[in-house]
Amino acid sequence: MDYQAFVTQQIAEIRKEVGDGLALNALSGGVDSSVVTVLAHRALGKRLQTVFVDNALMREGEPQRVVQAFAKLGIPVELIAAQKAFLKALKGKTDPEKKRQAITDTFYKDVFGKVVRKSKAKFLLHGTILTDIEETVAGIKRQHNILVQLGIDTRKAYGYKVLEPLKSLRKDGVREVAKVLGLPDEIARRMPFPGPALAARVVGAVTEAKLNLVRAATAIVEEELANSAAFQYFAVLLNDYATGIRNNRREFGHIIVLRCIDSTDAREATVRELPWVVLHRITQRITSLPNVNRCLYDLTPKPPATVEYV
Ligand code: XMP
Repeated sequence: MDYQAFVTQQIAEIRKEVGDGLALNALSGGVDSSVVTVLAHRALGKRLQTVFVDNALMREGEPQRVVQAFAKLGIPVELIAAQKAFLKALKGKTDPEKKRQAITDTFYKDVFGKVVRKSKAKFLLHGTILTDIEETVAGIKRQHNILVQLGIDTRKAYGYKVLEPLKSLRKDGVREVAKVLGLPDEIARRMPFPGPALAARVVGAVTEAKLNLVRAATAIVEEELANSAAFQYFAVLLNDYATGIRNNRREFGHIIVLRCIDSTDAREATVRELPWVVLHRITQRITSLPNVNRCLYDLTPKPPATVEYV
């Protein structure tokens, strides 16, 4: 496929659809929404409004990093501070599906929904890819009709039009387009990070303290394994405790799991045989975090495990 021609064609199409109107999109920092943002910005310039929602569940420095990366590309991104809304929606929820639903609802109905209603834009750009459509049709994924998720009645609100410039591509195609657009490697080759973000890596109820802990552990793991070229690597905070000894005193502390997998499309995954020296170093650093006295390495492939814990 000629990705350069794809880019030219999509830019022309966005321009034709939007005319002299305004368009809006939400950027997550993932490769799909990043590519849509650059395509739409090239097509519309100032007539594109891009927002990044800080949901309190991102990795260390991530919201600022994404905003800065786009500022360097000359694309302004509005950072929306919505930490409180997400933490409130998650409060006390322990069931994985309920946690995921709370995050989806808060994003669409509450936070991004409000931006859409306030904005004068009548066009929404969305990073839907072919796999999303196929998985929705096959019933693997919950349907992702963005207008329905935003609580917009498509029969009444014909003003809104959703544009999905990537809907004919799969992930590898999107990464090729990212390269053609000159996106930096940190975006074009970013490892998968789930929509529910760190909430998928805190088993049980999500609190600010637990998020801070898993965030710190994630930063250690990402730093130590940056050169591993593994498909995905991260830390998980269990909802269980173990006894340990610190400064000659017993403590009942947290347990963190290290996960590092190889895969091509995340449908199946094998566990990376990390060198002991690396495992020891990560364990030492993770158990230096406050009140963490165990670090476990998960040896389970997918299946039977999934990649994430929640
Ligand atoms: P599982 O845990 O289902 O994960 O084996 C497979 C791949 O998908 C990622 N993942 C998600 N990505 N929204 C996403 O965009 C989600 O809700 C979600 N849940 C899991 C996961 O990180 C892995 O790469």
